[in-house]
Amino acid sequence: MQPGPSDDVLALAVFAGDSVTVYPLPRGGRLTIGRSEENDVAIPDASVSRAHAIVHVGATLEIEDLGGANATMLSPASARSLSAETLAMRRVSKRRAELAVGDVLSFGTVVAVVRRADPPTEAALATADDDVVANHPSTRAVYDQAARAARGLLSVLILGETGVGKDVLARFVHRRSPRADGPFLPLNCAALSESLLEAELFGHEKGAFTGAVGARAGLLESADGGTVFLDEIGDLPMPIQIKLLRVLEQREVMRIGARTPKRIDVRFVAATNRDLDAACASGAFREDLFFRLNGISLVIPPLRERPSEIPELAARFLASACRQMDRARPPQIGPQALAKLEAYAWPGNARELRNVIDRAVTLADTTIGIEHLPPKIAAATLGASRPPVAPAPPTEMAAAVAPVSPAAAAPTTPTSLEQLRRAMEDAERQRIVDALAACGGNQTRAAEMLGISRRTLVNRLDEYDLSRPRKR
Ligand SMILES: Nc1ncnc2c1ncn2[C@@H]1O[C@H](COP(=O)(O)OP(=O)(O)OP(=O)(O)O)[C@@H](O)[C@H]1O
Ligand SMILES: [Mg+2]
Repeated sequence: MQPGPSDDVLALAVFAGDSVTVYPLPRGGRLTIGRSEENDVAIPDASVSRAHAIVHVGATLEIEDLGGANATMLSPASARSLSAETLAMRRVSKRRAELAVGDVLSFGTVVAVVRRADPPTEAALATADDDVVANHPSTRAVYDQAARAARGLLSVLILGETGVGKDVLARFVHRRSPRADGPFLPLNCAALSESLLEAELFGHEKGAFTGAVGARAGLLESADGGTVFLDEIGDLPMPIQIKLLRVLEQREVMRIGARTPKRIDVRFVAATNRDLDAACASGAFREDLFFRLNGISLVIPPLRERPSEIPELAARFLASACRQMDRARPPQIGPQALAKLEAYAWPGNARELRNVIDRAVTLADTTIGIEHLPPKIAAATLGASRPPVAPAPPTEMAAAVAPVSPAAAAPTTPTSLEQLRRAMEDAERQRIVDALAACGGNQTRAAEMLGISRRTLVNRLDEYDLSRPRKR
């Protein structure tokens, strides 16, 4: 295949264990792949040879296998068939084979796919309002609060576990603010060393330090009239905390090596997955800076507390993965796989879901099944990770379906595992009965309350032989 037009950047997405790492392909030249550190793509997996393969980027795009113990396997996107559930792989051993966007490779047990690269950060993030999934009441409340806060000038502090969508919300605040036409400049405070962070934030004058050959505006100046997004603010080194506090108090910035400050008109949005209260209490974070940043705080709940968003997020991520792989026929997410996605606790939240969908789209053909999910998700069961639903007061509705008594269900002496399974089923059955009662028989609302899709609820009603309540 001819590599695309010059602005068409391709990448190799490598799925090793739970992580997905994307390596942009060079415009020309090669990318070495193997277990040892020297490789451009170093995959620390025993099934990968020290020097396993090379991707050659030239007039054509090719993979070359270097003859290691575990050969390179290739499944061309063009060979995907309508019928096959899973990929047909062919062996590439000690030779070259042409590559195209959407082709799936495996090096030992590690899977990789050639795909279009995301322009840095933008494409991977929900950058337009309708890209944002917020169908759970808790997320909707946060976004409503954010839309109101965006209109003002208050500094916004976004809190939440890793991967919950803090970047997405920060961009939403900027888009909804009067500064939407101004710059939105993000900075990850944990990604740079202290001196680089200082120069990046405040800028410097010529000769301010070795290597400062010219004067350069910092992020705070460049964001004039717009929004600065300080991500991982909890990791800001103390000396920078002090300088940032002065900027927030005086709305002026002093470049390194300068004598006079410059006035700036910037809106501050910051985010962290750390407990800033505890950091202030331990002295690791300045309380006065915390108060300045915390004009209004927005807390994004973990995905496991809003599982009704999982199907929609999964569908979004699936669509964007297929776009990157030039896949005209996106696979469907099968009902069993969907139930597993809904049951899993997602410690990595939406980002982890995205990686899992990326991987599943790479492995599956027409339907994503449980076999295309990582083992720990395939093992997920509903209920274990769900926050308990407050039982609704007994209503007429609850009387309609007699709760199951364990004694009636199992005359023989069941094993402990059977008892456990039965107890969990009973608990789930009761939760469904209570939720339906609380929602006056409305299945959509009951499903939302339970954090599952309506289809899953209907399946459960059948499984538990519960009659489908008539709407009142
Ligand atoms: N509500 C949402 N709608 C659509 N996509 C979302 C949503 N929330 C998160 N995502 C997607 O999930 C991924 C992780 O989101 P994001 O980077 O905003 O998380 P984060 O909270 O900033 O993570 P970290 O703590 O690691 O910085 C991104 O690819 C983003 O596009
Ligand atoms: Mg982030």
